[in-house]
Amino acid sequence: MAILPPENRLWWKEPLSGTEIVWIAVAFVWGLVMFGTMVSWHFVGKQNLSNEAYRIDPAVYAELTEAQAEKYKVRMEGNLDVPVSHPPPGSDVYMLGRLWEWWPVLELEKDQTYRLHLSSVDWQHGFSLQPQNINLQIHPGYDMVLTIKPDKAGEYAVVCNEFCGIGHHTMVGKIYVVDKK
Ligand code: CUA
Repeated sequence: MAILPPENRLWWKEPLSGTEIVWIAVAFVWGLVMFGTMVSWHFVGKQNLSNEAYRIDPAVYAELTEAQAEKYKVRMEGNLDVPVSHPPPGSDVYMLGRLWEWWPVLELEKDQTYRLHLSSVDWQHGFSLQPQNINLQIHPGYDMVLTIKPDKAGEYAVVCNEFCGIGHHTMVGKIYVVDKK
């Protein structure tokens, strides 16, 4: 019985049983498979984009985001009056995560390239873009930069998929992709 101490105190020196060896081998091989999958999924999957990461002071990041949201604001939206920011194609675009929202709403143009910056100004959040299922861990102090080129017009939801407290389930945001042609 596992709740009693082993009779032989040097229990780790006893020979392995056949079943145990099999399970250790299975776990080891499976670990290698998972490791290989993680690496190869970066190339064959579409969810894990290559990103750059830079150190940044959360207060500085918040200022950059607020300045851009104000500068390129095209309208306000929702009952919380969230600005919708439509930055010029080719530019650096900022979105921040904080308790409990992804802010601001972004409006991007189809088939245009942007450098999308993501960071948190408080603690860890999960950026999940739906229905694309693109996921990133977002940490305060790190500016994550993705080079993106949206290829389909529509409305995309951003949800937080890292538990971040009492309002976690309300932490949502939005990205519009509009077709200018
Ligand atoms: Cu932010 Cu959960």
